[in-house]
Amino acid sequence: MNILSIESSCDEMAAAIVTNKNELKSSVISSQIDVHKKYGGVVPELAGRHHLEMVNNVVREALGQAGMALKDIDLFAGTRGPGLSAALLIGTTAAKSFAFALGKEYVGINHHEAHILSVLLEHENVQFPFVSLLVSGGHTMVVIVDAPGKYRVLGATIDDAAGEAYDKIARLLNLGYPGGPLVDKLAESGNPKAFDFPRPMKNDKFNMSFSGLKTAVKYLVRDNPDAKAEDICASFQAAVVDSLVAKTRAAIKLLNSEKLPCSAISIGGGVAANSYLRKRIELLAQDFEIRPLIPKKAMCTDNAAMIAVTAQIHYDLRGADPLGSGIDPNWKLADLSPS
Ligand code: KG4
Ligand code: ZN
Repeated sequence: MNILSIESSCDEMAAAIVTNKNELKSSVISSQIDVHKKYGGVVPELAGRHHLEMVNNVVREALGQAGMALKDIDLFAGTRGPGLSAALLIGTTAAKSFAFALGKEYVGINHHEAHILSVLLEHENVQFPFVSLLVSGGHTMVVIVDAPGKYRVLGATIDDAAGEAYDKIARLLNLGYPGGPLVDKLAESGNPKAFDFPRPMKNDKFNMSFSGLKTAVKYLVRDNPDAKAEDICASFQAAVVDSLVAKTRAAIKLLNSEKLPCSAISIGGGVAANSYLRKRIELLAQDFEIRPLIPKKAMCTDNAAMIAVTAQIHYDLRGADPLGSGIDPNWKLADLSPS
């Protein structure tokens, strides 16, 4: 079975083709960073307009790279949510239109589930249950993955997402957009102990908060105009990653206290491309002697390959979705598998 997927939840329009053996045939990403850069964040209407302009191009390119034609595709998939309505509508409508015109089936995929399951593309024989840390621009969650399609969200950020915090710090320091990779780069040459930023919600096992940390950085920048940006970035990053690792550690411990032990720790979402977080997660896996499932950096940020892999699992578990099904901009991971 060949699956063609379209991802358009935010500012990337992407298409990919994956076989049912999780073999990646092609993956094309058209980023809109240049469109939104001057506004310092994503403008939904502009995203929708650019997705519409790009959707046929990325699908054509994905088919070309795979050496396939539309008639070779058996299942079409689109990102149904969560995400920006204007963006989700374009990708899902295109996927449903292809399915309708060719008499094929369609599935609508949860973007967060796809970030979690993206590890299946690069890692063979993944065992369940495992703990997944999902860290993106819009969400930050610690999840137990009991089986494909069965998720327990243990905790989440109560305010800013980790990626959002990175982007805001970059804006405070006038580094540019998107901020995560720029802060990551500067932090490499900074001192993570230069400033003692707070590690909020230390006493909460699984929930996190990053807005107080952002405020602490804001006051530091205001009161210490000579502070080195490298040191601010490194100290900020140490605080964020400490929090993320502490909650992930607690999740592994909880899972180990249940029937089946934790087999692995995975990370997904844009912030999973962060070099320091990747190092710390590897060390955490070593501590527990479990497998680290760390996707390639390109697989962490938004892409359509993860949507195609998840489409296969969704199809096996729940079958095809009706062509009349709509988008769900607030679709929660927890709603996929009521406990
Ligand atoms: O998953 P993603 O591509 O889009 C969403 O679904 O939100 O995540 C984008 C987020 C942005 O906030 C970006 O700044 C952050 O991921 N990001 C990073 C890095 N690369 C991307 N944050 C920290 N370090 C990085 N290397
Ligand atoms: Zn994402």
